[in-house]
Amino acid sequence: MGKRRVAILISGRGSNMAALIAAAKAPDFPAQIVLVMSNIADAGGLAVARDNGIETLTVESKPYGKDREAFERAMHRELEARDVELVCLAGFLRLLTPWFVRQWDGRMLNIHPALLPSYRGLHTHERALADGVKIHGATVHFVVPEVDSGPIVMQGAVPVRDDDTPDTLAARVLRAEHRIYAEALRLVAGGQTRLDGAACKVAAPSQDDDVLISPRIE
Ligand code: GAR
Repeated sequence: MGKRRVAILISGRGSNMAALIAAAKAPDFPAQIVLVMSNIADAGGLAVARDNGIETLTVESKPYGKDREAFERAMHRELEARDVELVCLAGFLRLLTPWFVRQWDGRMLNIHPALLPSYRGLHTHERALADGVKIHGATVHFVVPEVDSGPIVMQGAVPVRDDDTPDTLAARVLRAEHRIYAEALRLVAGGQTRLDGAACKVAAPSQDDDVLISPRIE
């Protein structure tokens, strides 16, 4: 079986994109990154992708005004022209219409900086700190029309420290993001996931004996 053809959609620095590109360099990785597309012309991640020899493209939404679907049809044409099979959203900061989500039903992943279904939306780290949670993290999920919902492929949890600021917590979560996005894409592209209603089942051993307790107990 050949490698699945993957496009990554970004709007910013693209550190998750870079993690996916790095992972996909492994000979046994079941996906190849064929395109990095941005809605922002000077998104930092575009240069990183180019330096890695990956085709980049900017499709700005501005020319389409309020017609979000027209913007998305333009993106969709570019994806189809490259026979893209899977789309990874990686800090892509445009809400997608149900039309676009339907085109990529079961074939589009997103990473969200929280343990869904907690902390959908923005400012996840600030809100987690305000609530005083002791464990926080990140989620890779299939995209469905409802924002920050959809079958969960993988989650990574990190402890929250008393002295955390939104920035220190974000940095810890980001390290988890980089690991789980690459591993989640490996599972999905490798055909090791199966959608079962609202859930995503994974044909891989689950950890059943590791407990993350926070704060640490001796
Ligand atoms: C990441 O933390 C990602 O989880 C978040 O944006 C950041 C992008 O960073 N995504 C969302 O908040 C989506 N709602 P990156 O450009 O370095 O990957």
